[in-house]
Amino acid sequence: MSLPLKNVPTADHQNTSPQVAPASTLLDLGGVSKTFGNVQALSGLNARIGTGEFVTVVGPSGCGKSTLFNIVAGLEEPDDGAGIQFRGQSCKARDLLGNVSFMPQQDLLLPWRTVIDNAILAIEMEGMPKAEARALALKMLPEFGLAGFEKQYPNQLSGGMRQRVALMRTFLFKRDLMLLDEPFGALDALTRTMMQRWLLDVWQKHNRTILFITHDVDEAIFLGDRVLVVTARPGKIKLELPVNLPRPRGAELVTSPEFISLKRTLLEAIEEESMKSFQATTGH
Ligand SMILES: Nc1ncnc2c1ncn2[C@@H]1O[C@H](COP(=O)(O)OP(=O)(O)OP(=O)(O)O)[C@@H](O)[C@H]1O
Ligand SMILES: [Mg+2]
Repeated sequence: MSLPLKNVPTADHQNTSPQVAPASTLLDLGGVSKTFGNVQALSGLNARIGTGEFVTVVGPSGCGKSTLFNIVAGLEEPDDGAGIQFRGQSCKARDLLGNVSFMPQQDLLLPWRTVIDNAILAIEMEGMPKAEARALALKMLPEFGLAGFEKQYPNQLSGGMRQRVALMRTFLFKRDLMLLDEPFGALDALTRTMMQRWLLDVWQKHNRTILFITHDVDEAIFLGDRVLVVTARPGKIKLELPVNLPRPRGAELVTSPEFISLKRTLLEAIEEESMKSFQATTGH
């Protein structure tokens, strides 16, 4: 859920094309570590996200990806010694709260709220009058494949529709940086492919910067300008793979030699880390 605690201007006025190299660094993370009791989730993670970039993040289960998002969303502070810069300014994680829109791993729709009222939750919390927020969201429904469903409740929707409501809420809360934590994780392969193409369209139209966690290597390459591979816990960046594939990207791309070569590199890196993670958790 987006947590609108601060009223910070958005960068919608910036006309940064997602298809060109990013002109500026939006988020710079230096030496980010996070320890929970005797579990070290992250250890000295460095990453730089450019304005307008679509960066995907992959890594073994439990390596600290969601922890990283909680820090960037301002919900958790990293251990001492981390350097965070947002739009070129040093800050604490908590300063990012409200500057970033966040769709957590669980869609967190409120069962007693209709589609439209779930979609406006974050902007309503931010102070926008309900009627105005609803009017804004109504206009966006067709783009999110939800036209005519505004009065339905979450339990009346398919999994894909629920995820589109959660995405719509994240998009309505207009911030420079969007964090999407496995937004398509629960979808069947076909719906997922449709949603990926749709998300690319929406991203390009709305000029946002996206950090996107996934366990699906094809998805990471298909969507991303860069793929960050996180090591087994404690997580840090193992590999940063640029995806120099043309946009707009179509279904045929995934069978091209360039795509397959990137996939091979990624799979090797992930498999190595997954083995380490498996051995650490099973003792084998
Ligand atoms: N609030 C917390 N308190 C204690 N431990 C935590 C907390 N949040 C995360 N952890 C631990 O930190 C580690 C990393 O968890 P995290 O949820 O970031 O992994 P992940 O990479 O997102 O995994 P997955 O791919 O399964 O979603 C895990 O060992 C988890 O148990
Ligand atoms: Mg996670």
